[in-house]
Amino acid sequence: MYDAVNTEQSVQQTETKISARNVQVYYGDTHAIKDVDVDIADKTVTAFIGPSGCGKSTFLRCLNRMNDTIDICRVEGRIELDGEDIYDPKVDPVQLRAKVGMVFQKPNPFPKSIYDNIAYGPRIHGMARNKAELDEIVERALRRGAIWDEVKDRLDAPGTGLSGGQQQRLCIARAVATEPEVLLMDEPCSALDPIATAQVEELIDELRQNYSVVIVTHSMQQAARVSQKTAFFHLGNLVEFGDTSQIFTNPEDPRTESYITGRIG
Ligand SMILES: Nc1ncnc2c1ncn2[C@@H]1O[C@H](COP(=O)(O)OP(=O)(O)OP(=O)(O)O)[C@@H](O)[C@H]1O
Ligand SMILES: [Mg+2]
Repeated sequence: MYDAVNTEQSVQQTETKISARNVQVYYGDTHAIKDVDVDIADKTVTAFIGPSGCGKSTFLRCLNRMNDTIDICRVEGRIELDGEDIYDPKVDPVQLRAKVGMVFQKPNPFPKSIYDNIAYGPRIHGMARNKAELDEIVERALRRGAIWDEVKDRLDAPGTGLSGGQQQRLCIARAVATEPEVLLMDEPCSALDPIATAQVEELIDELRQNYSVVIVTHSMQQAARVSQKTAFFHLGNLVEFGDTSQIFTNPEDPRTESYITGRIG
């Protein structure tokens, strides 16, 4: 039904990058994520799909402790990155988020120049020894965000002055500038036109060579195009997780089938 273009790669064995066990998330009394167990592979794109409100964003935010910033939110269970508990009190969430970067649905550039939007993280993490190195990091990140050609002559202009689609590619460039090991993307293309969407999908495929990428998407075509693994969430449960080609052609659970054939959602 959907073309799963990456089928051959999906059978390739890859190491687990993030492992989640028995994860529960509550917003006050609302139990938003229930008993989720999943292993997210390295060098793989994993898509989270499911109807609105099923908990995709909530679970994604567990993976870099972004839920810590929501007062009423409580996370239980165990999540490991390379075998280390990310909720250990010794873990600095700021360092964690440099390793596990995030791109949000709504572009959120800092009120700074295009250059400084990208240079911000690398500066904090001491990634450049001098201005020339920082310039290089900025150019490389903007190229990877597929936006270099559009901004190279106005790096001092404010990031907020770009179009919505350009701002989103700027945010993707900002997220990759710190060389994260995992990139979380929550509906990253919903503000983009088809050309920018194609550029971002190409970028995601390229990032997969080195990183683990998790993308939330409402587009099943997009999930089929970019991911090797797919997780289907429904009412806070992870109903089915497997190779993207299997989920889209031969789902095991009737709820998955209903969703991908458009009967729920
Ligand atoms: N900040 C919050 N405070 C209270 N409840 C929340 C909060 N964020 C999410 N929820 C609730 O948690 C549940 C899961 O929401 P979540 O945003 O994770 O869903 P989603 O799958 O990302 O949906 P969508 O596809 O619409 O983005 C919903 O019932 C939602 O109302
Ligand atoms: Mg969401």
